[in-house]
This record gives sequence, C-alpha cells and structure tokens, in this order.
Amino acid sequence: MDEIYNGSFEAALERSKKIEEDLKVNPSKYRVLTGDRPTGRLHIGHYFGSLQNRVRLAEMGVPTMILIADYQVLTDHDAYQEISQNTKQLCIDYLAAGINPEKQDVIIYPHSYVPECNQLMIPFLTLVSNAELSRNPTVKEEIESAGLKNVNAGMYTYPVHQACDILFCKGNVVPVGKDQLPHLEMTRTIAGRFNKKFCADAGKEPVFPEPQALLSKTPMILGLDGSQKMSKSRGNAIMLSATEDETAKMIKKAKTDADRNITYDPVNRPEVANLIMLISLCTGEAPEAIASRIGEGGGGMLKAQLTEALNEKLRPLRAERARLEADPEYICKVLTEGAQKAREIGIKTLNEVREVMNMVI
Ligand code: TRP
Repeated sequence: MDEIYNGSFEAALERSKKIEEDLKVNPSKYRVLTGDRPTGRLHIGHYFGSLQNRVRLAEMGVPTMILIADYQVLTDHDAYQEISQNTKQLCIDYLAAGINPEKQDVIIYPHSYVPECNQLMIPFLTLVSNAELSRNPTVKEEIESAGLKNVNAGMYTYPVHQACDILFCKGNVVPVGKDQLPHLEMTRTIAGRFNKKFCADAGKEPVFPEPQALLSKTPMILGLDGSQKMSKSRGNAIMLSATEDETAKMIKKAKTDADRNITYDPVNRPEVANLIMLISLCTGEAPEAIASRIGEGGGGMLKAQLTEALNEKLRPLRAERARLEADPEYICKVLTEGAQKAREIGIKTLNEVREVMNMVI
C-alpha cells in the first residue's frame, strides 16, 4: 500500500506542463475540479495564486466545477456559525473575479448540497487503511500547526472526502498548490484501487479517471510582514473586499529593508521582492524593470507604486463585488442551481458505481 505520498514533485510538475499544453488544444477532454474551504473572504494571494487561473481555464472553455468545501471546515474549526455567510462571500469573490456560470461551463456549489458526492465516502473509506490516513504529511502538519490535542476522525478522513469531491464528477484536472499534492495522490490511489477491484478484475471498463495536478506558475505570495505566506488569520493579507484606503494603509505598513536602492532579489531581499512581484502581477511588467525604474526612489516610491497598481487592477473587481453583495438572491440562485447541476452529474456517477459494485436492486 505504499504508493501513496511517494510521488515526486518534479514528476507532478512535468505532468502538469503537459496537461497545460493539451488544455489549449482539447479543452473539452478535461473537467477541472477546484475549490476552497469557506473560512472567510479571499485575499490577493488567492487572486493571483489561483482565482485568475480558474478564470483563465473557464474562459478557455474547460468544463469547471468550483466546490465550496463547507463540510471540510468542520474538521479543524470550532466556528460553524459563519459557514453560510462565508460560502456566499466566497461565491461573490469568484463571480467578481470573472467566473461566470451563465457564460462559461462552470458550476459553483457547496459540497454539503450534493448527497451523491458525499455517499461515495462509504465505499471509498474501505479502499484505504488507517495507517495510510495517519501518514498523510499535509494532515500531520495541519494537526501540528493548529496544536490539536484531540483529533477528530473527520480530520484524518477529509482527504478521502476530497477524493469524493474530485471523483463524483470525474474531475481529471485539479489546480492545486504543493500542499494539496498528498491529497491528490490519495485520490489517484482510491480511483486506481476502485477501478481495479470493481472494474478491471471483473472485466469491466474503469469508472473513475486518475486525476492530475495542475500546478500554479505564480510564485507564492508572501504576507506584507515578509517572511510568511499571505493569510487572513496572520493579519498580513490584503482582502479583495478591502477599500482603496485600507489597501493603501496596509501597504504603507508593509515590511521592507534598510537598503534604500530598490533591486529585485527574491533570495536576499524577500520582502522587497514580494512587493515588486505584486506590481508585476498587476501591470505585467518584468520585476527587474520595475526595480530599476524605482531604484533610488526607495521603499516609499515602491509602496506608492504598488498601491496605485493594485487599486487600479482591483477597481473593476471591487465594483462588481459591491454590486453582487447588494444582490443576495442572485448569489443564492448561483449556488442552488450549481448544486442542482452537480447532483445531476453525481447521480450518473453513483449509478455506475452501484452497477459495478453489484448493488443494483
Ligand atoms: N482542501 C482544500 C483547501 O483547503 C479545499 C478542497 C476540498 C479541495 N476539496 C477539494 C481542493 C477538492 C481541490 C479538490 O483549500
């Protein structure tokens, strides 16, 4: 049972590059499945790291499922009071960023509304061992960093649930960061074992694809305090929903360093390089060109230019966000219609699953 977690990052990167090329030629061969936990609004790290990429894929015509992992929140958060609000806010962020279920082949839904997805959990749990579940490096790290003493079984089994998320709709491409690769390995293993046990060994066609990761090309966006990943809980993030003034204030407080001359040096000057990278992501200019243009202008000029570039870049998104926030009925419609479409897909898969498991009555 040792094939899980042995996949190398380089191999995943190679496969990811090949898929990226093929997506342009054969978008309809794929179904992208991606999603987030509804723990709050999204920030610019999400925007540049994943949202923009989702919009790009949807606009290319790749069928896309965006799931809001509301059940998954329960694995490591005591606060469930906010889940519904956060789900709607996530949906608003997606739509404001350019996801459009009316014009693109995109379905947005909370997974708790798709019983057919959740039902796969039962057979899937029989395909992995306890030992495999407790060896998952990402789960281990989450338990450690949250300082959890009593770990609930949902925490150990959520990667299996994530396999249900991906496989119920036969997703075959999953845009993810490095931390999600162990979960994707788990999904591939479950798909492989299911196909072998219930399909190949009985001379039947496989039911599930073995999905591949699509790795992000955007470097990790650091928080404004420098060294760590941008995250709302660390207070170092600029939210998409922030006002222009709030954005300016956050950037003013951002950490830089003592060297007045601005250069682009991610290894030795990570904080400065991060701010330059953010300008580059807004304007499309090369980071080196931005740095040499600012040069002796120093940190003050760097921050002023970032404030302007970011506020300009986000202005249309923020206007659209405000418009959507004033239209809660539309948000509800997007989510319920999304759930309905997801169920239609799930019912088909579940029927196939029953068939090969010899459970049809
Ligand atoms: N674990 C992901 C996160 O924390 C969210 C998620 C749930 C997900 N199910 C998924 C991501 C399936 C990709 C595929 O962000």
